[in-house]
Amino acid sequence: MAESPVKAFVCGHPVAHSRSPLIHRHWLASHRINGTYEAVDVAPEDFASFLRSIGEAGFRGGNVTIPHKEAAFSLVDDADDAASKIGAINTVWIDNNRLIGTNTDWSGFAANLDAAASDWDRVESAMILGAGGAARAILYALIKRGVPDIRIVNRTRERADALAEEFSTSSASRITVFDWSSLTNALRDAEMLINTTSIGMDGNESEVPDLEPLSSAALITDIVYVPLETPLLKAARRRELKVVDGLGMLLHQAVPGFEKWFGVRPDVTAELRNLVIADMDNGQ
Ligand code: ATR
Repeated sequence: MAESPVKAFVCGHPVAHSRSPLIHRHWLASHRINGTYEAVDVAPEDFASFLRSIGEAGFRGGNVTIPHKEAAFSLVDDADDAASKIGAINTVWIDNNRLIGTNTDWSGFAANLDAAASDWDRVESAMILGAGGAARAILYALIKRGVPDIRIVNRTRERADALAEEFSTSSASRITVFDWSSLTNALRDAEMLINTTSIGMDGNESEVPDLEPLSSAALITDIVYVPLETPLLKAARRRELKVVDGLGMLLHQAVPGFEKWFGVRPDVTAELRNLVIADMDNGQ
């Protein structure tokens, strides 16, 4: 009898626009693995029962996306240090009947920069724009990689203060919060700028901060990848600063999950990147 396929999922609400099925199915096909990866739309009120019954449904594990990442953290049997500090889970699997979760957004961010701008983590200072869920994962990555001077600027200052306070206690990095109106000071001589906000998602350049105060060797990255070249990245390119787009983070965050469920560590290739870009160009 043929062995049944290993099953994995991505759940979100909505989930139809998730690129994860495209990524994981590409890897399943290129490694000739007998496996499936399906998108499951789960409403918030149904999420707890969905997650607790994935084993019964025959899944080995899966990805959790918006709006369920924080809820997943409170539902798993075990979470690692990254998931606990970030307070959100995007990857789960079953191990000995226990539901285990981790967060690969931070490692996807770091792995993308490792591939696109090696030695990025030797910077002295980095500025994070934003203080939401994505910013938590980026802050964790910067601390983990030992960036000494981390600055946070958020439209709502209180959220940045809370984030800095929470992470400062367990960090060797100095974390400083600046007012939104002091953005220029926060950027002064910074060697790295990471946008975690939705600024520029609509292609609007008017909200992009003036990049003049940044170090001329600065690296600019955006976790937004639609459009692929955000107004921030466009402005940085015009100033001839180093630029890394956010699509690589999406691709790299998928790697540990695939390895957990299907037993093969997949590569992030130009072919995969082009596949996702073609899908984005189709407006799907
Ligand atoms: P995510 O999980 O994607 O980080 P989030 O938790 O809703 O989403 O956080 C969104 C971030 O984008 C926040 O830092 C938010 O700023 P506020 O805390 O002040 O809301 C920021 N953001 C969203 N729209 C923005 C805008 N037009 N200008 C500046 N910041 C914006």
